[in-house]
Amino acid sequence: MENYCLTAPRYKEMGYRRCGSSGLLLPEISLGFWHNFGANDDYEVCKSIVHYAFDHGVTYFDLANNYGPPYGSAEETFGRIFMESLRAHRDELIIATKAGHDMWPGPYGEWSSRKSLIASLDQSLKRMKLDYVDIFYSHRPDFQTPLEETMETLVDIVRQGKALYVGISKYPAEMAARAYDYLASRHVRPLVYQGRYSMLNREPEEDILPQCAERGVGFVAFSPLAQGLLTDRYLRGIPDGSRMTKSRFLRPDVLTDELMRCLRHLNEMAARRGQTLAEMALAWCLRRPEVTSVIVGASSVAQLEKNLQARKNIVFTPEEEEQLLNS
Ligand SMILES: NC(=O)c1ccc[n+]([C@@H]2O[C@H](COP(=O)([O-])OP(=O)(O)OC[C@H]3O[C@@H](n4cnc5c(N)ncnc54)[C@H](OP(=O)(O)O)[C@@H]3O)[C@@H](O)[C@H]2O)c1
Repeated sequence: MENYCLTAPRYKEMGYRRCGSSGLLLPEISLGFWHNFGANDDYEVCKSIVHYAFDHGVTYFDLANNYGPPYGSAEETFGRIFMESLRAHRDELIIATKAGHDMWPGPYGEWSSRKSLIASLDQSLKRMKLDYVDIFYSHRPDFQTPLEETMETLVDIVRQGKALYVGISKYPAEMAARAYDYLASRHVRPLVYQGRYSMLNREPEEDILPQCAERGVGFVAFSPLAQGLLTDRYLRGIPDGSRMTKSRFLRPDVLTDELMRCLRHLNEMAARRGQTLAEMALAWCLRRPEVTSVIVGASSVAQLEKNLQARKNIVFTPEEEEQLLNS
């Protein structure tokens, strides 16, 4: 088995935050596998990003059944890397997956029935070559399936030892409250809420972040760079190979004059703070104590390397906060 850098000073370079009121610490910056880890991406690049992450204290890897493309292939990539080099470090890793979005054909390949969630997690474990995941998420709210069925399935998954902890993603606050109550009534901790949060989307500040604080649930922010908008990636046009050129989730029509003005303004503000726009965007999420971790995506080691610098300054003056509110 390949041990790539046993001597890396990995835990000195990262800060760890308690996930809600649980016993689990998560790195302030985590790595997501939504894009860039599919079957069509260069395996050696994928592997070097994961190794760089782990060598610099990123212990949380965020996956889902349908990350790719094609669906399932990001988990397969992770499984291959895991078997080649990370297996000896299993107890140093937090590996999460999710189910709920479309995954396989037919009525059981999506949403959150007991049938779908259990089948999906079993598939994920096989693809990732794992006996268990650390966190299993209900990936989105399902308004047709009784919430009790979904939550009872999460309880059973924990009892079966297939996941150590469970979380929810994108649930409206009222439904999240009912989910937390149900899990608590069955003595299973709702560990974490995963939601979209960035300088371009402050919605969770209204109800989800206060609710997490009140309920002792951790909050992990996804797309903290707004899929690359909050970096220098699109300040001078749309570069070849960028997400905007290849993903249906980031369309060129989002680059309105108004957004470009805002991004340029933010970029100047970041420079005044001695940060890149990406660093400032991540630091801005981490300024909130309710945020346990930001999950970043990266298509190269260089991007991740830069993003990890964000932790160096996460303090914003009241004047900066004010300016940001008006951006
Ligand atoms: N729960 C959910 O429903 C949900 C939804 C979405 C995401 N997530 C999770 O959150 C993770 C992160 O989401 P995301 O990938 O949208 O995050 P993001 O960090 O907002 O965007 C990542 C993208 O930004 C660009 N980028 C990153 N660092 C850069 C830098 N320093 N300079 C220039 N460009 C940079 C890269 O785009 P290029 O590819 O163009 O280089 C990269 O792929 C996902 O992988 C997934 O694990 C969860």
